[in-house]
Parts: sequence; C-alpha cells; structure tokens
Amino acid sequence: MFARTSLVAALAFAGAKLALAQDDVSSSQFWHERYHGLLSMAAYNSDPTTACAQTFDQAALEQSFPDSTAAPWTYVQGFGPTVSGGEGFVAVIPEMDKVVMVFKGLFGWESTFNQSTVDVGELFYLGDNCLNCTAHAAATQAYIEAKEITNDWELVKYYVNTTGAQWSITGHGFGGMVAQVASLDLGWRGLAHWTHNHGAARVFNPAAATLLNSLYGGEAGQRVVANDDPVPTYIPESEDYTFALQGFHILGNGTSNATYGYDFTVCNDPSDAACHGNAEGRIEDHLSYYTPIGMCGKPYYGTNDTVADAYLSTASSAFYATATSTFVAPTTEVAPTTTSEVSSTASASASGSATEAAAADNAAASGQTTTNAANDTNGASVLGVAGSLVAVVAGAVALLA
Ligand SMILES: *[C@@H]1O[C@H](CO)[C@@H](O)[C@H](O)[C@H]1NC(C)=O
Ligand SMILES: *[C@@H]1O[C@H](CO)[C@@H](O)[C@H](O)[C@H]1NC(C)=O
Ligand SMILES: *[C@@H]1O[C@H](CO)[C@@H](O)[C@H](O)[C@H]1NC(C)=O
Ligand SMILES: *[C@@H]1O[C@H](CO)[C@@H](O)[C@H](O)[C@H]1NC(C)=O
Ligand SMILES: *[C@@H]1O[C@H](CO)[C@@H](O)[C@H](O)[C@H]1NC(C)=O
Ligand SMILES: *[C@@H]1O[C@H](CO)[C@@H](O)[C@H](O)[C@H]1NC(C)=O
Ligand SMILES: *[C@@H]1O[C@H](CO)[C@@H](O)[C@H](O)[C@H]1NC(C)=O
Repeated sequence: MFARTSLVAALAFAGAKLALAQDDVSSSQFWHERYHGLLSMAAYNSDPTTACAQTFDQAALEQSFPDSTAAPWTYVQGFGPTVSGGEGFVAVIPEMDKVVMVFKGLFGWESTFNQSTVDVGELFYLGDNCLNCTAHAAATQAYIEAKEITNDWELVKYYVNTTGAQWSITGHGFGGMVAQVASLDLGWRGLAHWTHNHGAARVFNPAAATLLNSLYGGEAGQRVVANDDPVPTYIPESEDYTFALQGFHILGNGTSNATYGYDFTVCNDPSDAACHGNAEGRIEDHLSYYTPIGMCGKPYYGTNDTVADAYLSTASSAFYATATSTFVAPTTEVAPTTTSEVSSTASASASGSATEAAAADNAAASGQTTTNAANDTNGASVLGVAGSLVAVVAGAVALLA
C-alpha cells in the first residue's frame, strides 16, 4: 500500500494548551458545535429520531425560541449507503436555526479504499480559484454518490428555502472527511454556511484547504478532536495534506463542572499540535464525541467504553465478514445548479409543517437506490469509523488480505 501511514508525532504536544482557549469561542458556538457532535454520533444509530428525542425536544427549543411553533426536530431524509460509503441523514433543527446534513462514518475505510487523491477543482468546477486542489478520492467519491442519489440535495434545498434556516454540514470519522468535501462543493456554491467535523483524518492538500477555510471563516467551520483520538493523526494521502478549518480540542468525558463537562482549546493554526489528536490514544476516544457512538446526548453523556467497545465488536465482525473493496475513482459529476434559491438570511421562525414532512418522506424514498456491498444481514452495516485504525497505527497492518 502506498502513502498509507504518515503519522504525526503528536505525543510530544499532548499537554500543550493555547492561551486563547475558553474565551476565544462564544458559548453559542460551543452549544452549536456540541449539537453537531451529537448528531454525528447519532448517525450511527439506525433511528436518529428516537436517539435524539430527549435532546432536541420542546423544552430545548423553547429555551432558544419561546414563541416558536416549529417541531423541535424534523427528520428530512436518510441517504445511502452508497457503494463508496456515502451515508447519513438530514434534519431540520429550529433550535439551532439550521438544516443539518450529517455524514456517517465507514468502518475500515482505510483498508477498503486505496488512498489516492483527485482534482476537486475540476470535479466541482472551482475554476481559477482552485487550480491545484486535490482531495481524498474515496471521500470525494462517497460525497458525489450521495449527491447523485439525493438529486443534488433537492430536499435540503427545499427545507433551507422554506424554513429560512441555514445549511450546516457535519460528520464523524470517514463521515467527517466526506462532510469536508461536501462543504467545499456546497460552500463554494453559496449553499452551505456552517461545517463541523469530528475525529476526521486529513482530506485536502493545502490549496483545497485554503479555499475551504476561506468559505467558512472562524467559528463557521471547525474540525474537532476529542481527548486523545488517534484518527486525526493518520494522513491517508501524501504528507503535504493538511488540516482545514479551525481546530477545536475537547477534553473531558462529560462529567466535570466545565460547560457540557468538557474543557476546550481552539487551534487557529493547522500546525498547532493541541488539535492533532494523539497517535497513541485509545480508539474509544475516537468513538466518544460528547456522547458515545450511536447515541445523541441524554441519557448518555461523554465517554462510555461499554458502548464504544460494543460498537467496535459489531462493526468489525461485520466488516471482516463482508468487506470487499468497491472503490471506483470519481468520474461522475453532477451538473451545478444555480444558487439563486439559497436563502441568504437566517430567520428564527422556522416552521416544519406536516405538508413539508410529507413531501420529505416521498422524496426521501428516491434516495435509496444504491446499497453498499459491504453490508451485514441485519442491515447494520459495516459502517463506522476507523476502528481498525488501531492496527494501522500499531504496525501498518492491512486489514484486508
Ligand atoms: C498548479 O500546478 C502546476 C503544475 O504543478 C503549476 O504549473 C501551476 O503554477 C500551479 N498553479 C497554481 C495556481 O498554483
Ligand atoms: C423557494 O421559495 C420560493 C418562494 O418562497 C419559491 O418561489 C422557490 O421556487 C423556492 N425554491 C426552491 C428551490 O424550493
Ligand atoms: C470521567 O473523568 C473523571 C475524571 O477524570 C473520572 O473520574 C471518571 O471516572 C470518568 N468517567 C467515565 C465514565 O469515564
Ligand atoms: C462541581 O460542582 C459541584 C456542585 O457545585 C461541587 O460540589 C464540586 O466541588 C465541583 N467540582 C469541582 C471539581 O470543581
Ligand atoms: C454505559 O453504557 C451501558 C450500556 O448501555 C450502560 O448500562 C451504562 O449505564 C453506561 N454507563 C454510563 C456511565 O453512562
Ligand atoms: C488507486 O485508485 C486509483 C483510482 O482507481 C488508481 O488510479 C490507482 O492506480 C490506485 N493506486 C493503487 C496504488 O492501487
Ligand atoms: C444492505 O442493507 C440494506 C438495509 O437492510 C438492504 O436493503 C440492502 O439490500 C443490503 N445490501 C446488500 C448488498 O446486502
């Protein structure tokens, strides 16, 4: 395997803390970031609506918008899994005034795909602004497939338009990588305005990262690393690949007296090792972002090794039972649509009506056309994160024979 492991020696910096820390980020920012983290973990649940019911509830909505008549949570659609692991869901969350697109991770992605790169400048018509922009090929392919089966996010556009809420993108692990590719395409087209990824490996070369950073300044775009998550230290592509977006390191397990039980550090410089993760860290740290993997906050907070290890066990057996490399290089392009339908202003008066929900259900059905060959019989797919990364980190052991 080529360019498989380029581990950053993050150990030396494990204790480093920046002076900026706490007051560099607004409380509203932390609130929103945490919600994106919860949603990213809920993507591993087969029923995010039920998992998130106690977090995104009426009481929470009323705290932010006492007069809102909107439903606190509207599940718009699930999409995927596509052949290359494009999978996730979309929900309208009036409490955040956002329509959030959430990408689920893919267990064993680092073994499933060869870690080649593609010219995203060409694929996404970025023109002169991104002549030499490349990105992780498999993450790009997963995004393109998801874009196709959702008819270029037709429903998301509809909900953004009709609610006035803003388009936000998130994900965890491989899903966090796909989320960044999505953010490049949708941010460039003026559609998406917020992006948060969790526990993601590097996706972009410096030119592409620079463009992404220009689209999501400061708090509008964050890459988050929990405790000693080892996954962000892994560089699947070539060594010049870099982190994009503002780094946000969260430290804790949800039980301290700090806000939400986590202290945090902000990294405005991609070379700041405080937000690089830790190559020697526990994989359980990767599976715990404000809530254990598959959960969505209440009644679960922070880290829970029982949940993380159960997930790993299920996902890895499914992976070994069925995994085959299905990767095909990105060649398909979805014609860019006009961006005139995007709502440029946020409104607090989100209103997810029954009619809209029905429209969502109908259209969502069309988003299920491809399936992942690497599925187990329960439909609880092999998807997940780089749980197997442990093997890669420990000894560059390929998962697939
Ligand atoms: C892109 O790369 C080509 C070939 O490496 C180089 O000639 C060109 O100057 C680069 N363009 C930019 C804008 O960096
Ligand atoms: C957005 O809403 C306006 C009216 O509010 C409508 O004319 C337009 O077609 C809608 N666009 C989309 C993409 O739904
Ligand atoms: C959370 O962290 C505290 C402080 O390090 C520790 O005492 C506690 O056992 C941890 N709880 C869990 C569930 O890991
Ligand atoms: C956390 O808050 C509780 C209740 O105010 C207090 O009893 C406890 O000492 C605090 N713990 C720490 C570590 O500050
Ligand atoms: C961890 O998860 C297990 C399994 O769901 C649960 O029984 C246990 O109470 C959880 N522990 C904590 C500290 O939340
Ligand atoms: C990786 O995949 C790409 C696209 O299919 C292919 O062009 C390339 O040769 C592959 N590289 C290796 C080392 O297998
Ligand atoms: C994967 O699981 C889904 C959901 O259960 C199922 O519809 C699909 O047929 C499965 N795909 C394969 C290739 O087994």
